[in-house]
Amino acid sequence: MIHNDLTKQFSLKSLSLAGRVVMAPMTRSRSPHNIPGPDVAQYYRRRAENNVALIVTEGTVVDPTGHAYPDVPNFYGKEALQGWKNVVTEVHEVGGKIFPQLWNAGSVRTAGMVPDPSVPGYGPSPILHPSIKEGEPPKEMSGNDIETIIMAFARAAREAKQIGFDGIELHGAHGYLIDQFFWDRTNHRTDAYGGSKIAERTRFAVDLIRAVRQEVGADFPICLRFSQWKLGDYETKLARTPKELETFLTPLTDAGVDIFHCSTRRFFESEFTDSDLNLAGWTKKITAKPVISVGSVGLNTDFISNRMAPEKNKPRGSEKTIQYLLERLERNEFDLIAVGRALLADPEWVTKVIDDRFDEINTFAMESLETLY
Ligand SMILES: Cc1cc2nc3c(=O)[nH]c(=O)nc-3n(C[C@H](O)[C@H](O)[C@H](O)COP(=O)(O)O)c2cc1C
Repeated sequence: MIHNDLTKQFSLKSLSLAGRVVMAPMTRSRSPHNIPGPDVAQYYRRRAENNVALIVTEGTVVDPTGHAYPDVPNFYGKEALQGWKNVVTEVHEVGGKIFPQLWNAGSVRTAGMVPDPSVPGYGPSPILHPSIKEGEPPKEMSGNDIETIIMAFARAAREAKQIGFDGIELHGAHGYLIDQFFWDRTNHRTDAYGGSKIAERTRFAVDLIRAVRQEVGADFPICLRFSQWKLGDYETKLARTPKELETFLTPLTDAGVDIFHCSTRRFFESEFTDSDLNLAGWTKKITAKPVISVGSVGLNTDFISNRMAPEKNKPRGSEKTIQYLLERLERNEFDLIAVGRALLADPEWVTKVIDDRFDEINTFAMESLETLY
């Protein structure tokens, strides 16, 4: 039963997957000089050869204003793009599929940060990001800045297709640039890119998705990752009701999103009252688009609390989440499931789950973050 459900084919436009498990995007900060090296390529290959149907890479930055953390890979410049091409070759060689997660951190960047300390952070409004205690507020983006950054995403998407990636994911989640436009706490604009209604604050993403679509053509999958939770505010919600979620998702769907990647910390939790559908389930119901769900698969602690309290996971306890997963896949609540930390700790995680070898799984611990194996 496990075998059938997790290895069921999935296809969409030019994309065809041999299973339902996606590697969640995870920043590893292991690309010195912002160039993904052979160790990064091997790291992804190891997962692709072990039944991960689709890899979404760590966030990779589309232009110099987008950096906020050390040794994060660029998605611009000849050397970084060559590095990514090598990653694609390694993953394809073993039959895997891969999307880059295209990213700009927006106002999570402040002046003085690597790689170029002279580059300031930009945001929809000059408001200090809630995750930052003190410092200079970001530069409010002018119409020109908006156009420049949209073009950077569009160029990156075009390069991704040329290099041989199988689609792209736009990082519209967790309080980074695209999400800063969605969120009323960081977007106080009074022009066409702001507004009191959530639908009005989708304009930046809508323009960006359209620009990307123009570069990649109709058949190349565009995935958008979004979340209710934000860095610096885990309890906030963009949409408090299904109706609000609908007004948020409709313009994004109309702009050309093919897959929604609905980022939650625990996939088994209901998003709203009166239904046990999770965020991905609601998104599928509203948009009729394929969706990816995520959050604490194979673990017994969630993303945030596990970071704070690195209690070692017990593999037997984590089996419960697999049971929930299979039930929800079977009733078609979502199409694909992303797995983060469990896959980071054990590249063979999917193979071992399929084979019912739970006792052999290397469980996630904070030390798992220390290597790129
Ligand atoms: C080390 C680490 C780095 C992450 N980096 C990113 C990232 O670059 N982009 C992103 O969208 N999410 C990022 N996330 C969130 C994961 O994609 C995922 O949503 C989260 O870990 C929950 O899934 P899990 O419970 O299976 O780990 C990161 C998570 C971890 C643990």
